[in-house]
Amino acid sequence: MTKDEILLAQKEHLFPSVFHYYKTPLVIERAKDQYVWDADGNQYLDFFGGIVTISVGHCNDTVNRKVHAQMDKLQHVSTVFATEPQVALAKKIASITPGGQLTKAFFTNSGTEANETAILAARCYTGASEIIALRHSYHGRSSMAMALTGNSTWRLGPITQPGIVHAHNAYCYRCPFGLKYPDCGVKCAEDVDELIRTTTSGHIAGIIAEPIQGVGGFVTPPKEYYPIVDKIIRNYGGIFISDEVQTGWGRTGAKWFGIEQWGVTPDIITSAKGLANGSPVGLTVAKPAIADGLKGVQISTFGGNPVTSTAAKAVIDFIEENNLRINAAETGAYLRGKLEELKEKHSLIGDVRGMGLMQALELVEDRTSKAPAVAATAAVMEAARENRILIGKGGLYGNVIRITPPLNISKTDVDEFVGRLDASLMATRQTAETRV
Ligand SMILES: Cc1ncc(COP(=O)(O)O)c(C=O)c1O
Repeated sequence: MTKDEILLAQKEHLFPSVFHYYKTPLVIERAKDQYVWDADGNQYLDFFGGIVTISVGHCNDTVNRKVHAQMDKLQHVSTVFATEPQVALAKKIASITPGGQLTKAFFTNSGTEANETAILAARCYTGASEIIALRHSYHGRSSMAMALTGNSTWRLGPITQPGIVHAHNAYCYRCPFGLKYPDCGVKCAEDVDELIRTTTSGHIAGIIAEPIQGVGGFVTPPKEYYPIVDKIIRNYGGIFISDEVQTGWGRTGAKWFGIEQWGVTPDIITSAKGLANGSPVGLTVAKPAIADGLKGVQISTFGGNPVTSTAAKAVIDFIEENNLRINAAETGAYLRGKLEELKEKHSLIGDVRGMGLMQALELVEDRTSKAPAVAATAAVMEAARENRILIGKGGLYGNVIRITPPLNISKTDVDEFVGRLDASLMATRQTAETRV
């Protein structure tokens, strides 16, 4: 198909709700390592990785070799049979969860399903139904996941799941209480106690939280936030579910899972995206007692699929063997330094935040009012496309640039990227000045 035929078919035959970046969708034809090429043959440096999914570079040779071999050996049998790839993956994951304590896995095909499974497990284990989620969060697109999500853009149609209440997130740049860290006493965390006492029955199944909110614009809580929240949740009989769909597998630097940066051991971790570098795998991994709480039987036709399980195990091994968690910390710190320098230069940048190779720029009209620079963010996206870099957009107001390159990029890639991002911010400023 030609590029125009693809764009026409996209319009005619996909749900109009299929969201895409840019005024005209970018048609991607192929990719390798940190680069993708569009249908016109243009090469882009990919610092978004298909929404925080390309952990080890596009079409990674080592991963693909193992996947191709598995495809020729055994492609599908379903979870009603036992296979080596599924259990080898589960065993590997069990060995790297915080404290080696989360040792039982259930595999599905997406982050949404992983979270559905986690909520079900929390409810079965505790016998309670009420769940705490966070404002500005994103947990997926099923009915339940949309009810958990704290962002109206991604909550379509009537929300039909009762018993979910939303706590304040630790959005220090726009503190929900108008306070300043650390004098605030981390009120947003302490407030969870009152939330439970006033908006639930006092008997909760647990909390679900993204350690760093992904779609929410990489909102990164201070170090006290999750320990305080964890303690409160347990006082009311609840368990802690860490949604690591974006923050897992070394993305935040040094640690395997984002929540480890706060020293909290969750009861359940959910993941997807970067786990298999683009192959569809959803993971719900739990402490054994919680997994045992799911009485009865379940199947997942594609869950634990031999090919996708092989991909996921190959990705984890690749991260481990190539020390990529350390690269995420070191190259992430280098990237962060460069982004702080851009902030000195461009008043459009109000905040720089994130951890490891998960960094964001929040764009504002001016630094005093902090009015979200929504139009300018869209303009930066278009300019970045012109400058041949891929970046993401997010935040409740759509004014946050999200930067999540593969974990195996180098400082040279960062220099190249930052130069082009600088040019994109400059072009946006010049366009705004011409309009005035
Ligand atoms: C934190 C988080 N949880 C869950 C999901 C849902 O994952 P999926 O799109 O694979 O269903 C996403 C997707 O963006 C996510 O970012």
